[in-house]
Amino acid sequence: MNVLVIGANGKIGKQLVKLLSESGEHRATAMIRDEKQKPDFEIMGAMTVVADLEDRTETIALAMEGMDAVVFTAGSGGHTGPDKTLLIDLDGAAKSVEAARQTGVGRFLMVSAIGADDRERWSDQIKPYYVAKHHADNILLASGLDYTIVRPGLLLDKPGTGRISAAEHLEPGGVPREDIARVLYEALGTETTRNRSFDVTSGDTPVREALANL
Ligand SMILES: NC(=O)c1ccc[n+]([C@@H]2O[C@H](COP(=O)([O-])OP(=O)(O)OC[C@H]3O[C@@H](n4cnc5c(N)ncnc54)[C@H](OP(=O)(O)O)[C@@H]3O)[C@@H](O)[C@H]2O)c1
Repeated sequence: MNVLVIGANGKIGKQLVKLLSESGEHRATAMIRDEKQKPDFEIMGAMTVVADLEDRTETIALAMEGMDAVVFTAGSGGHTGPDKTLLIDLDGAAKSVEAARQTGVGRFLMVSAIGADDRERWSDQIKPYYVAKHHADNILLASGLDYTIVRPGLLLDKPGTGRISAAEHLEPGGVPREDIARVLYEALGTETTRNRSFDVTSGDTPVREALANL
């Protein structure tokens, strides 16, 4: 499968591109926004395409030519204000969904956030972030694309365990980024994740089994 990773230079993105490149089963293309980031991906044997989520939809669509699936794991990050939350986490995701429709990429995997589907769970401090994630997810749900929405709990930088909990709704909890990269990788080939949205936290079940049991 030809897979475009949007947000490839991020912490989850890089681990996902590595998994895809090492698989021998998929061809990864890293969507990056700076030429200087290229060598990191060339070393992994991945292709790169330079595009910015603040570019026009048509530019993002060009990056998707020939792709079978898109994974959106970009984010404006906590160091920027609500303006970038709107422009990247919401509009960047919306343009990516539109670009996938225009290009005929059937499959779209979105990295959302636990609680994004339930306004009662939005904390005041990061409400704009949840608003962005909520509406980006809804745009994907309404798009007609073959979607998978992964809603991780608090992302951790510690090594993955390969074991998770995955269900429509979970109590809040943390999860290593490495495990979310693995979830995205496995979801590409797992039928039970098609047209499903689910929370993911650390747990006891091997990733593949947890996804198969959804
Ligand atoms: N933090 C949490 O606890 C948490 C919990 C649940 C879900 N999430 C979500 O998980 C996802 C990935 O997290 P992460 O920790 O891997 O993120 P990250 O390391 O901050 O990576 C985000 C990526 O998005 C890219 N990006 C930002 N603005 C862009 C633009 N205008 N055009 C193209 N790319 C752009 C960044 O590019 P550069 O490298 O060039 O800056 C970076 O590579 C995000 O969607 C985040 O919202 C986070």
